[in-house]
Amino acid sequence: MGSLEDRLKILEEAHSFKKEHEKRLAPLDQLDPRRPFVYISIGGGELGDLVLTAAKRILGGERGGIKTVAIDRYEGFPAQDIADSFEVVDMLNGDLLEKRIRKYVPDPQGVPHAIYLEIERADTYRVFKLGVEEGYNVISTPYVPLIGMDRLATKLLFDKVGVPRVEWAYADSEEGLKKVAKDMGLPLIIKPVMTSSGHGTTIARTWKDVERAYEYSLKHARGKGDEVVIERYLPDLKERGIEITQFVLRHFDENGKIVTTLLPPVEHQRPGATYHESWLPYTIPESVKRKCQEYAKRIAEYLGGLGIYAVEQFVIDDKVYNSEFANRPHDTGMVTRWALRKDEGALHLLASMGLPVVNSDIDIITEGMYCVAHVILAPDFGTDKLVPVIGWRATEVLAYIRKKGYLGDIWYFGKPMAYSERRMGMAVAYHENLNTARRIAEDIAHFAEKCIIYG
Ligand SMILES: Nc1ncnc2c1ncn2[C@@H]1O[C@H](COP(=O)(O)OP(=O)(O)O)[C@@H](O)[C@H]1O
Ligand SMILES: [Mg+2]
Repeated sequence: MGSLEDRLKILEEAHSFKKEHEKRLAPLDQLDPRRPFVYISIGGGELGDLVLTAAKRILGGERGGIKTVAIDRYEGFPAQDIADSFEVVDMLNGDLLEKRIRKYVPDPQGVPHAIYLEIERADTYRVFKLGVEEGYNVISTPYVPLIGMDRLATKLLFDKVGVPRVEWAYADSEEGLKKVAKDMGLPLIIKPVMTSSGHGTTIARTWKDVERAYEYSLKHARGKGDEVVIERYLPDLKERGIEITQFVLRHFDENGKIVTTLLPPVEHQRPGATYHESWLPYTIPESVKRKCQEYAKRIAEYLGGLGIYAVEQFVIDDKVYNSEFANRPHDTGMVTRWALRKDEGALHLLASMGLPVVNSDIDIITEGMYCVAHVILAPDFGTDKLVPVIGWRATEVLAYIRKKGYLGDIWYFGKPMAYSERRMGMAVAYHENLNTARRIAEDIAHFAEKCIIYG
């Protein structure tokens, strides 16, 4: 994205674009199977699946006037079999990706459509260009995925809208990083400007860590460029804090006005850098919840457009630090499938198409119980190679839940191949006691892990 100044300019542009874009938007008043709304999910993992299945479950699919298209990089991806059409293509290749989009939406003005970027591993910039130059409807606006995947742009946005974040700096050389580290003091966390799932990140507790961090970051960064983001590391977060994903929905209301609706905050904790377990309802005090919601709202309203925003926040005592955001469903939000009247995928679909969402859609429906979702992971295979998945013993898992007397559930994604610790599904538990619910969800997850058969 260039320099900090370039990024500040993009933020300004994004805000101006939002204002013009929202004037052009209108609620969708009819779905017509003769001229279906084309909904494209770039990325067809579990979060694509959650959105596209809602097109069938709620709107009736192609006969109901919505045609879904899922694109991913490998054959047999989770949303492939539920999409009306699918494409397997290297999404980082802009030419190929653009061709597939044009195949379904040759004329962005003539075909009602929405393009949802489910993953960052795609040529986001090419999709952005289709949006600003030709009027393709990139959710929520073409600018937002670009900003959300760039940690520096994100930090600048937080400062612009005046929401608290951890102390941060950036460097574009090893020397620069060392200087910053000296000024800020340890511990620090050093991250590539563009990554996810903790790739290329170093928690620097010693000077040795700092020395290794720069090269490590560049090696694992997704984009080009030589910048790293340096943050104050908050050890208290894991010890006595809690992580929040504050979802914000931008949607039309019944009166045809774009409004901002705040979902109940989803809480999560993780032993490492990646998603592990999350739950609803929240346990943070009301006063803290109000802050989480107020900050997330400011972020979403600055960028605008339709659809869901997921703002990641760290809460320590009564302090809230905004950390990252994405304008799409979020892995920690999969728990909404069991805990809210409509899940994050359904909410995103309806909102981003221009259909109304009502307040009761975001009600927590677990009535006096906590609902915990826990990841089901592939084992550590001790190799970098992909391992084929032969199948899973569904009966055994379901019988286990019943035998144990648990109130629980599972969602198996059906991925054809696995690598070490790949997410293969989710286990869910309900209980009036949060810690018990967490323990049960973990128990089901670990049992389910043993029931997946690898080749
Ligand atoms: N400054 C920090 N202090 C303490 N923990 C952090 C900090 N930054 C990140 N983490 C931990 O690492 C996780 C992943 O970091 P994040 O910035 O969200 O990157 P990713 O893109 O990999 O999700 C967070 O959810 C949190 O648990
Ligand atoms: Mg994150």
